[in-house]
Amino acid sequence: MSQVIGYERVGDIAVLAAQNPPVNALGMDVRRGLLAGIERAEAEGARAVLIYGQGRTYFAGADIREFGKPPQDPFLPALCDRIEASPLLVVSSLHGTALGGGLEVALSSHYRIAVPSAKLGLPEVNLGILPGAGGTQRLPRVAGVQAALDMITTGRHIPAPEALEMGVLDRVQDGDPRQIGLDYVAELLAAGASRRPVCDMPAPAPIDFDAAYEAVLKKGRGQLSPAVAVRAIQAACEAESFAAGQARERELFMDLMASDQRKGLIHAFFSERAVSKLPELAGIEPRALQQIGVIGGGTMGAGIATSALLAGLPVTLVEMSQDAAHTARDRIAANLSGAVKRGKLSQNAHDDILGNRLALATDYDALRSADLVIEAVFEDMEVKKQVFTHLDAVCKDGAVLATNTSYLDINEIAQATGRPGDVIGLHFFSPAHVMKLLEIVVADDSAPDVVATGFALGKRLRKVSVRAGVCDGFIGNRILSAYRACADHMVLDGASPYQIDKALTDFGFAMGPFAVSDLAGLDIGWATRKRKRAAGLPEGARDSTYADRLCEAGHFGQKTGKGYYSYTSGQRGGVPNPEVIPLIEADRVAQGITPRVFSEDEIVRRYMVAMVNEAARVVGEGIARRPLDVDMVLLYGYGFPRFWGGPLKWADIQGLPDILSDIREWSKEDACFWQPAPLLEELVAEGRDFESLNTA
Ligand code: 3HC
Ligand code: NAI
Repeated sequence: MSQVIGYERVGDIAVLAAQNPPVNALGMDVRRGLLAGIERAEAEGARAVLIYGQGRTYFAGADIREFGKPPQDPFLPALCDRIEASPLLVVSSLHGTALGGGLEVALSSHYRIAVPSAKLGLPEVNLGILPGAGGTQRLPRVAGVQAALDMITTGRHIPAPEALEMGVLDRVQDGDPRQIGLDYVAELLAAGASRRPVCDMPAPAPIDFDAAYEAVLKKGRGQLSPAVAVRAIQAACEAESFAAGQARERELFMDLMASDQRKGLIHAFFSERAVSKLPELAGIEPRALQQIGVIGGGTMGAGIATSALLAGLPVTLVEMSQDAAHTARDRIAANLSGAVKRGKLSQNAHDDILGNRLALATDYDALRSADLVIEAVFEDMEVKKQVFTHLDAVCKDGAVLATNTSYLDINEIAQATGRPGDVIGLHFFSPAHVMKLLEIVVADDSAPDVVATGFALGKRLRKVSVRAGVCDGFIGNRILSAYRACADHMVLDGASPYQIDKALTDFGFAMGPFAVSDLAGLDIGWATRKRKRAAGLPEGARDSTYADRLCEAGHFGQKTGKGYYSYTSGQRGGVPNPEVIPLIEADRVAQGITPRVFSEDEIVRRYMVAMVNEAARVVGEGIARRPLDVDMVLLYGYGFPRFWGGPLKWADIQGLPDILSDIREWSKEDACFWQPAPLLEELVAEGRDFESLNTA
């Protein structure tokens, strides 16, 4: 008897109950159990089979942990065919999330019922594959080509009532999945309903699949699986038979299963779940989180307050003056109305938040009862220390005192208080109510339950929280400064900012580095360059001044209408600013550089290798615990293409020995910048990869 598929007889009905927590994934044992259950029901002379899931869900899909390993019998496509071919009446009762292979099992059943809260989807493209157990063949027959294209190429989860309208479900009914299923089967049997295999339904009429393919390919920004899925749906319409369409689906599925993008996307799936699980926090209770304080209501403070308010947490925001407090309130109100417009917040909730849950103050006394205070004032050590001295004086015992600093030394900030154990960095990204990344920066004295509280807050705010150590720029900004420097070097040596931006967006980045600088404000980089020059650049370090000239002319990027690009209000994106290339040429002349030609491949390679090398240092020094932590920072904070999984997954896929040899080669021309990270050398010497450190 299967451990994971329960078998029970209720009169003429054989009931197969999945018991494979947490999500009833269709691993080998589950597939075996389902097959055995169907065979037993037939052998015992049952008239019908009901399939449902115990616990929180119907099957949420194939077992992703089996991907990339040798497949084990029975294969899911064959199992689905077997279920569909059963002479008994097969009915599935759905609740929770019926996803991927789960929905494919449901589509192989002859009838489908679901509770209203159930969600249905074929999200395989998000894992770099496509539905491989008949989903691309059965769904278009049941719901039509357009609905199938939408569901399969976006991976969208469809609410049960919508699925009912689409024809994917036959009935939606409130109740216990087992009971509503049993009632439905009894009703079908009583009515003499016949089996209804989807494979016998006529193939839908074809559409212009080439146009659909091109449109989906373009939308995927380099991700292939959604476009390949279009070809599988095409086969549902155009293949000679259902079996021929299935064979085509299989072929395309296997191609994607072998692709690097599948590896990258599955790495992203597991890493985003592993990233906030820290062994040292096991069993540590976070502190209470009922009342949040925010200091400073500028870009970041207002965004952080919005994020907390949207998560249902009351916020008290302290500014320097009444005027500044009003401006902060306006910023928060604008953020919240954006959420209303996007359908993320109801008008009532919006009014309640602004009327009752947001308090503004100019006096730190207002923070006396706060459980956690996040400081987001100017990036200046003296100002931050004053703020923390104040907080130390007013905040209650046990309050967590957090800073949103981008670069400053949190150990030094903590020492401004008499309770450094309560101090931590919570580094949000702009706009803080939109960006998913939260770096939780653990200082020397941060208490474990303070760290746990940071992660609890991140979860509450639906952020991807990553633990970071203290250094200049923590994980993300430190790595950014390395690959950004590499881009500047390539500009000096002959590439244009526009060529670099194009090469990197073609690679899959949401934006190129120069467009990003324009968005963030060129004054930030200018201040950093001045700071670094004042501290003294390392021997042999390269420097460039063309961006300084832009800033001196008052061009700070999007906010001033001009930077690397020129912007016209109301228009998205910009066009190259003609002032930039002459400034670069002047810089090259001043430095005696003869420009050379860069290919897009070389641009991407150098940029990525610079990123990987600095990331290896960040992991080697323990600033990031594991390579996957770096990967999640770049994915969620820096627009890194998800289908590569992150820079260190990309590095593993390229092969670390080649990366190291590129660094050694390039160090002949610039020994200061291209110094191999010790961890990279170590891994290559031992024949290991970054993944080996994720699982260690
Ligand atoms: N296989 C293996 N493990 C899975 C899994 C799956 N399909 N889906 C979820 N899990 C694991 C998670 O890794 C996590 O493990 P952990 O506790 O050790 O970290 C645990 O189940 C719980 O998952 P979540 O934390 O994500 O729980 P949520 O409640 O937030 O979300 C979910 C549940 C919506 C089902 C979400 O997990 C999800 O989206 N899962 C993936 C669904 C999917 O992509 N299915 C298609 C698979 S591919 C396929 O079916 C191919 C077929 O066409 C041949
Ligand atoms: P900002 O200049 O927009 O806002 C700072 C706000 O703090 C101003 O409204 C100011 O009135 C207020 N303020 C200053 N001193 C104060 C005090 N003593 N008490 C109360 N309010 C005070 O700055 P921004 O961009 O919001 O940055 C804030 C912090 O967040 C900085 O440490 C910055 O490095 C960090 N940060 C900024 C990011 C960004 O993209 N802008 C991203 C991540 C972190």
